[in-house]
Amino acid sequence: MSAGKKSGGLAGVTAGETHICTVGKEGAGLTYRGYDIYDLADNACFEEVAYLLLHGKLPTQAQLTAYIAKIKANRGLPDSLKTVLEMVPADAHPMDVLRTGVSFLGNVEPEGDFSNQSDVADRLLACLPSMLLYWHRFHTDGVRIETETDDDSISGHFLHMLHDKAPKELHRRCLDTTLILYAEHEFNASTFAGRVITGTLSDMHSAVSGAIGALRGPLHGGANEAAMALISEFRNAEEATAGIHQKLADKALIMGFGHRVYTTSDPRNTVNKRMSKELADDVGNTTLYPISEAIEKVMWDEKKLFANADFFAASVYHFMGIPTYLFTPIFVCSRITGWAAHIMEQRANNKLIRPAADYIGPDLQNWVAIEDR
Ligand code: COA
Repeated sequence: MSAGKKSGGLAGVTAGETHICTVGKEGAGLTYRGYDIYDLADNACFEEVAYLLLHGKLPTQAQLTAYIAKIKANRGLPDSLKTVLEMVPADAHPMDVLRTGVSFLGNVEPEGDFSNQSDVADRLLACLPSMLLYWHRFHTDGVRIETETDDDSISGHFLHMLHDKAPKELHRRCLDTTLILYAEHEFNASTFAGRVITGTLSDMHSAVSGAIGALRGPLHGGANEAAMALISEFRNAEEATAGIHQKLADKALIMGFGHRVYTTSDPRNTVNKRMSKELADDVGNTTLYPISEAIEKVMWDEKKLFANADFFAASVYHFMGIPTYLFTPIFVCSRITGWAAHIMEQRANNKLIRPAADYIGPDLQNWVAIEDR
C-alpha cells in the first residue's frame, strides 16, 4: 500500500501489484492479462477467458478442448453437499446458498497443502452452477436435478439446469458474454476480501466464501438485482424519467450507476446494453429497454453518472427468463475465475495484509469496578 496515504474506503490507494487485470488504465481500459475486454467479449468463449485468467495465457485449441472436458467432468456434487443444499431453506438468498455450499465443499474436499490449487479453482468453477441450480430446482420444483449435463459450455449447462431443456443459442451466447464481462476486475471489494483471507495463508474455500459474502452487498454485485427491482418500478419511459428525478431529489442511491474507479463510463456497459436491446427485440418486449435508457439519460444529465456493468445485465438476464434472485449468483459463477487467479497470485508473493488505523476513540481511562459503574 502506498506509504502514509489515507483515504475513505481506500479510494485511490494502491494496495498491491497485479499481473491479472487493468481497470480504467489510461491507454488500456479494461484488460485481462493484457487482452482488451471488447476483443474477449467479441471473440472468446468464457472457458477460454477462465483459462487465460487462471493460467496466464490464451489456450491453444487442444488446451481449450481439454479444459472444457475437465470442467465438464467436475460438475458433479457429493451426496453430502446435496443433502446440505436440500436443508438450506427455500427462502434463503442464493448468495447465502453458494457461500454455504463453498464452505461445506471445503470440509469434504479440503484443499490441503495448496499443491493442487489450480484443480481446486477448476472444481469450484465447474460446480458452482450445479450447487446453485440443484438448490433452486429442489426448492422451487421439488426435483433433484442431474447436474452432469451434456452441454459443453458453462453457460449452456447453467441454462439447461435452470429451464430443464437445452437453451436457445442466443441466450447461451449472451449469458456466456456476461460471464466474460464479470470474470475479473482487479482489486474490487470481493477480490480484495479474498486476498486478505489468502494473505493469512488460509485455504481457497475460505477465501472464496469470504469473497461471496463481500459480493453479496448491493454496493457491489448485489446491484444487478437492485437494478432489476428499480427498472420494474416503472411502466414506461415517461414514468421512469419522472421517478428517477424524484429519487434524485430525495437523495436516493440509484442502483447500477456509478463506480469507484471509472469516471465517465464502464466499458462493460456498452456490451450489456447492446445485448439487452438484442434480447428485448427477440422477445418483443417494448418497455424494459426504453425504461432503462430513460433512467440512464436522467442519471447522466442530472449527475454525470453512467450505467455500470450491473445495470443492463439486469434486463439481459430477465429477458432470458432468469429469476432476479439468481443474478448476483451468476456473477459468482463468473468471478470465481478472477478470485482464484488473485488467490494464486497472492500466494505466489505473499505478505500478510494488515493495514493500520488512526485511533479516534476515548483517551486512556481509569478502570472502574463493575459495582461502581
Ligand atoms: N446514485 C446516486 N448518487 C450516486 C450514485 C448512485 N448510484 N453513485 C454515486 N453517487 C453520488 C454519491 O451520493 C456522492 O455524492 P455526494 O458527493 O454529493 O455525496 C458521489 O456520487 C460520489 O459517490 P461515492 O459514494 O462517494 O462513490 P464511491 O466510489 O464511494 O462509490 C459506488 C461507488 C459504486 C459504491 C456508488 O457509485 C454506488 O453506490 N453505486 C450504486 C451501487 C452500484 O451500482 N454498485 C455496483 C458497482 S459496479
